[in-house]
This record gives sequence, C-alpha cells and structure tokens, in this order.
Amino acid sequence: HRLLMEELPGAEVLVVSNREPYIHNRVDGEIVLQRPASGLVSALEPVMRACGGTWIAHGSGSADRDTVDRNDRVPVPPGDPTYMLRRVWLSDEEQDGYYYGLANEGLWPLCHISFVRPIFRDEDWRRYRAVNERFADAVVQEASRDDPIVLVQDYHFALLPRMIRERLPRATVITFWHIPWPNAETFSICPWREEIIDGLLGSTILGFHTRFHCNNFLEAADRFMESRIDREHASVTLGGHETMVRAYPISIEWPPSALAGQAPVAECRAAVIGRFGLPPDAHIAVGVERFDYTKGLLDRIHAVDDLLGTHPEWRGKFVYLQAASPTRSKLGAYSALQAETVRLAEEVNARHGRDGYTPIVLSIRHHEPTEVFEIFRAADLCIVSSLHDGMNLVAKEFVAARDDEQGVLVLSGFAGASRELSEALIVNPYDTRSMAAAMDAALRMSTAEQRERMHLMRDMVRQRNVYRWAAQMLLDAARLRKRARILAGA
Ligand code: G6P
Repeated sequence: HRLLMEELPGAEVLVVSNREPYIHNRVDGEIVLQRPASGLVSALEPVMRACGGTWIAHGSGSADRDTVDRNDRVPVPPGDPTYMLRRVWLSDEEQDGYYYGLANEGLWPLCHISFVRPIFRDEDWRRYRAVNERFADAVVQEASRDDPIVLVQDYHFALLPRMIRERLPRATVITFWHIPWPNAETFSICPWREEIIDGLLGSTILGFHTRFHCNNFLEAADRFMESRIDREHASVTLGGHETMVRAYPISIEWPPSALAGQAPVAECRAAVIGRFGLPPDAHIAVGVERFDYTKGLLDRIHAVDDLLGTHPEWRGKFVYLQAASPTRSKLGAYSALQAETVRLAEEVNARHGRDGYTPIVLSIRHHEPTEVFEIFRAADLCIVSSLHDGMNLVAKEFVAARDDEQGVLVLSGFAGASRELSEALIVNPYDTRSMAAAMDAALRMSTAEQRERMHLMRDMVRQRNVYRWAAQMLLDAARLRKRARILAGA
C-alpha cells in the first residue's frame, strides 16, 4: 500500500482473473462462503487486501448473484471490506468453451508437460476470444482513469493484454502467467500460437515464475513472431511496443492468516488423528492439492506402496493422508484421475493394511485454508510430487505452517518452488524407488536436521513473500511509467 502511494501516486489497480477470491454458495438456504483452492487466489488476495482496488472475476458460486448489490459489485472481504469484487457472469456455453475447453483441455496440458494430450477445438477458441473481449469491456467499465494498472492473471486471459492495450493505450498491463511456459517446439503445436503470443505482447510487463519459463517464451516469440528480442534486457518489441519479460517467483503472505489462531502442533496432531481416524502414534505424511493430473497423485501412491513393500518396518506405523479437492471434474481426464486414485489407494491398502490400519487415507472434498494449515501442522512430512508445476504454493504453505521448525518437505524438482526451497528433499516423481527412499529418509531424519532445514526454508519464504512479489512488479511498472513520461516530454 505504501509503495503504491509513494511510487505510483493516484494509481488505480485492477486485477483480472478467472477464479474469484470469495465464492458465495447457498447451502440449505444459507449463504456459505468458500475460499477456492487456487494458488493464484492464495497469492493475490492478501495483496489486494493491502492495496485496495477492484478484482474482476467470473462469478461462480451458487449464491453469488444474491450477494451482489449494485451493478454486480460486492465489497470484500466480507465483514472487513478493503477492495471491490466485480463479477462477470458467464453462460454454460461460454464456460464450456473458454474455461473447460481452451483453457483447461488446451492450454493447461500444453504448458504442463504431463503427457495428457491437449485438445484444441475451433469452437473453444472462438468462445475463449469472446470471453476475453467481455473481460476487456469489464476492465474499461471499471477503470475510472485512462491509465489504470491492470494485473492480468493466468492462461485464461492470453488475449486480454492486447485487447486492453487497444481500448486503453495508456494503461500499464502487468500480466502474470501462473503456469509453466513450455519450450518453443512444444508450444508450436497450438493452432493459435501466434495469436496467443501476440495477445500477451500487449502487456507492459509479462511475468513468469522462473527464468527458464521466460527464456522459453522469448524463444517462442523469436520463432513465431516478427518481433525483436533483446536478450540482454529480456524484452520483446512488436509493432513498436516493448514488453518486458521477467521472472517474479510468486509466494504467500507472511505471516499467513490461516496460521492465526492455530492450536499448538500437538493439539493439531490430535485433532487430525481424531478426524481422519489415524492410529494415535502414526508417522503422518500428508499431501494437499486439487485433484489434478499434474500433481503426481498416483505416483505418490506408488511410492507409498514401494515404501511399505521395501521397508516393512513402517507397516502399521506409517500413514499417508491425501487431502484432495475435486476440481474441473466435468473433464474426462479429471474424473478418470479421481476414479483411478481411489482404485489404486484401495489396492495398496488391501496389500499393506490390516484390521485397524489403513495406510492411505483419502479425504476427497473441499478443505478450507485453516483446516489445511492444521493438517500441515499435524504432519511429519509433506509430499509435493508435481509432474510439472509453475511454482506450487502448497510447498511454501507447509513451511509457513511449521513455526515449530519441525517436519520434512519432500518436493518435486519439477515444481518452480524447488529452485527456492533447496533444503527440501528434492525428488523425481517419475522415479518411484527414489521417492520411496526420500520418504524413508524423511521419516528417519533427526529433529536437529529437520530444524536446520526448516529454519532456512522459513527464512526464504518470510523474505520472499507475496508482498515482495507484487512490489517488484509494481516497482518495475512505476519505473516504466516514469520513463514513458520523460520520453513523452522530450
Ligand atoms: C492453478 C491456476 C489458477 C487456478 C487454480 C485452480 O493454480 O494457475 O489459475 O485458479 O489452478 O484451478 P481452478 O480451475 O479451480 O480455478
């Protein structure tokens, strides 16, 4: 907030994302609030709470419309509002084409190298473009000046930066791509590769989590566009407009609000053991994610199977608790994963379990942030085994939850977070045997070593928190705005 006042006086901040930060659902006649399971939302919501402004998103809750006052806007957070939520209502057809289709059956598997074949349908592309237009109109409606700072979020809106630039040429558009960007050859299979890159190059600043993803993007722009690439300054110029391409590793708020009011670790442990029916003296490993095929859920269960097979001393003592929130279940790849996970867990439980001992416990439902933090605090180890992941904020949340400096993080080397959290036990989720070995090492790690590793990781997340992520982008934007003013005056 201070940074905005000092560096960008009078600036107006608008955020655009598909997912809204607060979903209002109607349950038995009552309105119940839900905080969605979304790394994007966990990161951006505290920033908006601090900065104020307007967040434009698709209204997805069953009672969203009931909570809207005038003109589809509602002040949030409920109870203590600091910014405005503006909902855009999408029809089922728009959702099918733009969200389920192009975004989640096309771009999601395209950008995550997870061996799920991307599907590209012309009809989805048309809807995607049309929905991007609708959000561009919403940005213009919400902007009270002709030079707002618009924070465009994620792969749902690749075309939006260009559309905003056409409508509001003086806007500063900061686009953040929350998922990986693949190499140029992989990206080139997308039938609309030029349009997507062109759309993104409407941005003033284009951010990715890692340098590697920036380089992949620059390579694609170089190959498919008539653009000039300046590798020294990491920028792309197309049609006289320059876009800075930078790495801004995303993070979480510090201190995390879900940590406030948490019971001591021993009480969290007792609560989780009671709620999920775990043995009282269990060594507990946890995984917390959306039920998504990029997260390596099956690979993790295979590793548990291997651990209990090769280290029978853990049978009866070790449990793996998987909290998995159903997501995008309308899509075949997602419902199939859910069914296969349940089947595989039953098979492994039958192999290694016995009366009163179930090695794998699945909790398939939505989990609110405070419950997630309680689960983290109850765990001896947390496993993040993404096959490919932009950053992965679960890894950072686990670290943030452990103010007792205990617990071991087993982390995939294919998650952006592994670049920063190098004191985790870094694994290759495709290598079952080594993942089982890492779990075994984690279970045997001394409390002193756990403390040393956790201490370093907590320092990292504390320093590189999400306010710093936002501040770095806003400071870069402030510099570019000042420079543009100087150049305009010259
Ligand atoms: C990833 C994406 C976000 C998305 C989240 C949840 O983190 O980068 O844009 O919000 O998944 O997915 P969903 O489709 O439920 O919003």
